[in-house]
Amino acid sequence: MNQITDPHSFADLSGTRLTHLDWDAEIDFIHRKIKAVATWTLEYKKDTLVLDENGLRILSIKDQNGHLLPFEEHEVDTVRGGWIKIVLNPKVQKIAIEYETLEHPAALQWLEVNQTLGKRYPILFTQSQAILARSWLPCMDSPSIRFTYSARVKVPKGMLALMSAENPQEKSPDGIYTFSMKQPIPSYLMALAVGDFEFKVVSDRSGIYAEPELIDAAHQEFSDVEKMILAAESLYGPYLWDRYDLLVMPPSFPFGGMENPRLTFVTPTVIAGDKSLVSLVAHELAHSWSGNLVTNATWNDFWLNEGFTVYFELRIMEQIYGVEYAEMLAQLSYNELIGALNTLPPDETILKAKLDGKNPDDAVGPIAYEKGYFFLRTIEKKVGRRFFDEFLKKYFETYKFKSVTTEDFLEFLKANLLKKKDWEEINVEAWIYEPGLPPNIAKPNSTKFSAIESAAVSFLKTKIVPVTNRWTALEFIYFLQNLKGKIDEELCKKLDNQFHFTQSKNSEILAFWFLLCIETNYKPALGAMKQFTIQTGRRKFVIPIYKELIKKNQIQLAKSIFKDAAKNYHPITYNSVAQLFDKTL
Ligand code: BES
Ligand code: ZN
Repeated sequence: MNQITDPHSFADLSGTRLTHLDWDAEIDFIHRKIKAVATWTLEYKKDTLVLDENGLRILSIKDQNGHLLPFEEHEVDTVRGGWIKIVLNPKVQKIAIEYETLEHPAALQWLEVNQTLGKRYPILFTQSQAILARSWLPCMDSPSIRFTYSARVKVPKGMLALMSAENPQEKSPDGIYTFSMKQPIPSYLMALAVGDFEFKVVSDRSGIYAEPELIDAAHQEFSDVEKMILAAESLYGPYLWDRYDLLVMPPSFPFGGMENPRLTFVTPTVIAGDKSLVSLVAHELAHSWSGNLVTNATWNDFWLNEGFTVYFELRIMEQIYGVEYAEMLAQLSYNELIGALNTLPPDETILKAKLDGKNPDDAVGPIAYEKGYFFLRTIEKKVGRRFFDEFLKKYFETYKFKSVTTEDFLEFLKANLLKKKDWEEINVEAWIYEPGLPPNIAKPNSTKFSAIESAAVSFLKTKIVPVTNRWTALEFIYFLQNLKGKIDEELCKKLDNQFHFTQSKNSEILAFWFLLCIETNYKPALGAMKQFTIQTGRRKFVIPIYKELIKKNQIQLAKSIFKDAAKNYHPITYNSVAQLFDKTL
């Protein structure tokens, strides 16, 4: 394996390691604070141990006998936070860190009772990826380090606590819950959610948690999840995490989904009523192999997590919903990639990222996902699916519960799949280390979407709204995408009269529709757009809306929406939007 240096962690990766966490925590909703003792089991190598932390108040650090250990703290910057240096000796087997969170830890969102559906209890949830675990847990916060954990969490009576671990299915009468995660995981997969959640069974190893108001709709939407697990297993080997459950998050959840092991966190905005957006579940499930089992060693290797997962997601979708469906997803992915290549500075289009000194959260985008996907698709096309599948299965088997660098992967690829000639014809080095796209990319091929492209062209020319009796949600999304930059207010009005996009229940349609409305200044959608942007914290939706408003010189409007939305946003989304305004000043 190649030597790892992680630019986003202060931990000494070749020093003393933390192998197991025992977390004892109390969740205080009144003071919005977590008070905890993190007891880490050590694998001793050196006398100094450096942990990552961001905004924690450390009260004491003791060894397994209760003796105080000397330590030193230092704040470095707001992105990485700082470090805690603890002085050990070879007799120290465990360290118990007593600490509490201060104001606004970057991973946490606390929602008031009136910000929930049920309006009976508040909600707390975490989002640790990429480097935010350290804002609620002192740890070696590098994806190259794994540990097992157990936890005891005390929450107010009447609330359910859930973690990325073995989970309860019912509320406990005293508000105390215990958890255990027996498979070693990296810190970015540490997760906690506390709220008025209910559980509903899907299969004997899968189910849905949600607020009671949403549980039935969510259960229907995600009823294919067992089929997805079976499809995934048939492709790349057994599911190694025992259960796979979903937790439906409040609409402020900053991402579409987060692959917390055993318990994917999923945005409620994928519940469209017709399963049209469930590829997101296939994506998070796929991370149970690519990401959670075989993990990117640093955030510069992030494409190993996401590119593989998009590839795997599309294979799952193909098995369940057919090739034509998967090719539509591939085409959406391709267009996103081309869009990104046309707008990003060249050095940000390199697959092996250079995030040193940058916030890895700002680098989440089409390069790691879509360029990564098309690289793998191009290899598949070159060697044929049978050999590629065999190779991937072996890759997961070889590196399970390990972290890999891009270079580890390339060595494995060379040793197990590609002959010199294939390697050169694919142009592997260019795919990984050079900007833009090599010429031999395996392009998508969707006949349905070709028809949509023609429909869009003809609509723009004739101004006659197309007949769409059999269009699915994906086709509508693609149709709207094909109008971007070309449509005017009158055409928006025609479309809205016919399809009522402004009232759409499909969040992907709605979010893209709003971009067209801002572009053309189509006012009847303004109220719905504001409401959507205030209530939804999903970064993928709201950032393009703010950007479009800024582009159209609607800065005052954008700011007033942000003002109303701010209290609903998770810190991740809040900071991303705030950055847009800093840039416009
Ligand atoms: N792991 C990511 C989310 C993430 C990445 C959070 C980096 C923080 C830092 C998750 O699996 C993901 O990719 N979510 C996507 C959905 C997916 C279908 C492309 C999202 O949230 O939109
Ligand atoms: Zn992902």
